[in-house]
Amino acid sequence: MSDTMDLAILGGKPVRDRPFLVEPMIDEEEERLVVQAIHDRNFSRYIGSTTPDIHRVLRLPSADAAAISDYWHFLGGPNVRLFAAEFAKMFDVPFAVPINSATTGLSVALAACGINPGDEVIVPAISYTATGTAPLMYHAIPVFIDVDPLTFCIDAGKIEAAITPRTRAVMIVHLTGNVADMDAIMAIARKHKLAVVEDAAQAIGATWRRRKVGTLGDAGVFSFQQSKNIMTGEGGMIVTSDAEIARRCRLIINHGEVVFDDDSEPADMVNMVGFNFRLPELCAALGRAQLRKLDKVNTWRTRNADVLRQELAGIAGIRLPPSQRNGNGPAHDVPHLLVALYERQAMGISRDLFVAALREEGIPVGTGYVRPMYANPMFLKKVAFGRDGSPWREAGRISSVEYRHGQCPEAETLLRESFLWFYHIAYSSTEEDMRDIGRAVRKVVAGRALLAENAEHLTDKLGSHSAGRIGVAPAQLRGTVR
Ligand SMILES: Cc1ncc(COP(=O)(O)O)c(C=O)c1O
Repeated sequence: MSDTMDLAILGGKPVRDRPFLVEPMIDEEEERLVVQAIHDRNFSRYIGSTTPDIHRVLRLPSADAAAISDYWHFLGGPNVRLFAAEFAKMFDVPFAVPINSATTGLSVALAACGINPGDEVIVPAISYTATGTAPLMYHAIPVFIDVDPLTFCIDAGKIEAAITPRTRAVMIVHLTGNVADMDAIMAIARKHKLAVVEDAAQAIGATWRRRKVGTLGDAGVFSFQQSKNIMTGEGGMIVTSDAEIARRCRLIINHGEVVFDDDSEPADMVNMVGFNFRLPELCAALGRAQLRKLDKVNTWRTRNADVLRQELAGIAGIRLPPSQRNGNGPAHDVPHLLVALYERQAMGISRDLFVAALREEGIPVGTGYVRPMYANPMFLKKVAFGRDGSPWREAGRISSVEYRHGQCPEAETLLRESFLWFYHIAYSSTEEDMRDIGRAVRKVVAGRALLAENAEHLTDKLGSHSAGRIGVAPAQLRGTVR
């Protein structure tokens, strides 16, 4: 029986019967640093603002903060401060502020940049939900605009049209490891005096004109959640070159209000309501060891992405957006996952059926996020805080910002019918794993006429492929079979 007739979704033998193993790259270095921290009883060495020179300390570059010998410190214990210093050095910025997630980091960065309730923040339509909700935490209003269909990052050409007198900031997401057009974005932001916060959660190590993304705007945020290129379980980092933004971030994550006294200037106290967003010492110990592996992990993902590209190249119906690693352009991506674009017309079957057939072959493929962020019912219905619909209706102000299906056509097409997300390039998948994916894709493509004939009977196989953070069935990605 030919491969075509042997499609697993029609009862044939799957190309692959073992899960892909996606796991952090861990060795004795993580163990050594974590065990050392346990040995030192070093879990959180944060101490409140007892330091008399707290206002000087808050502006210290991360390298200087790490050199302080005190075990207990407002800026964290030894691993937290060392992690910050090592990260700042690698990313060539004076300030790195460890935090407990990128989700909190994005809100903190916006707050540190001075957003106010009712301010508008421009955000690309596609990202992990945390980017879209970050402005809400300080009662600011996200304004979603469309993405570039080949990089999936914010379409810089659409930013100016979205600017109003209330716009205060732009958030950039370097999605899937691609790099947004930072020259255009920074020029617009400077012209209109807007803060730029980069969400680099998926692009650690990617560069624009040889500078690492996350360091080009006013503040940049990284995620160390376990699915990311390097991880601390949960965790993140804010980077900035601006001492005032660093100072404000350090305050916001550490119950900022405690350092203010009766003489404090009200303007300085804005957004300082007490939070604890600190990264624990054990996570920082893990992070220090992980940081030393960043190049290795990124090289691993890049090699797999390149092999998978070769596997998928030239298959009718599968389009590969140009890699930002080719040519002499300003952007240099570091793939977090490999994105291919499905072409329904050429393929003749729906993307959902194609994905279901691949899944039955043992290849779970994501289709991106469930919806563009503005299609979250919370936005469509404008319900966030309180019964009155804050921040869209607050203190007598009614926001004219709108959210409706269809508002960002490129984003909607990508999510509805084009995205194929191959998460499998992560450590510890191998080149042979990539070849399995290629084999399975070619097999399903070759059998598409048969699939089209049987489409009606296969609807029960479609299921949901877009659930969750990575959009794949976890059992097929996270198994333990090597
Ligand atoms: C683009 C993007 N932004 C923000 C986040 C949130 O990161 P965290 O899980 O560290 O809060 C993620 C995580 O998936 C992400 O992919």
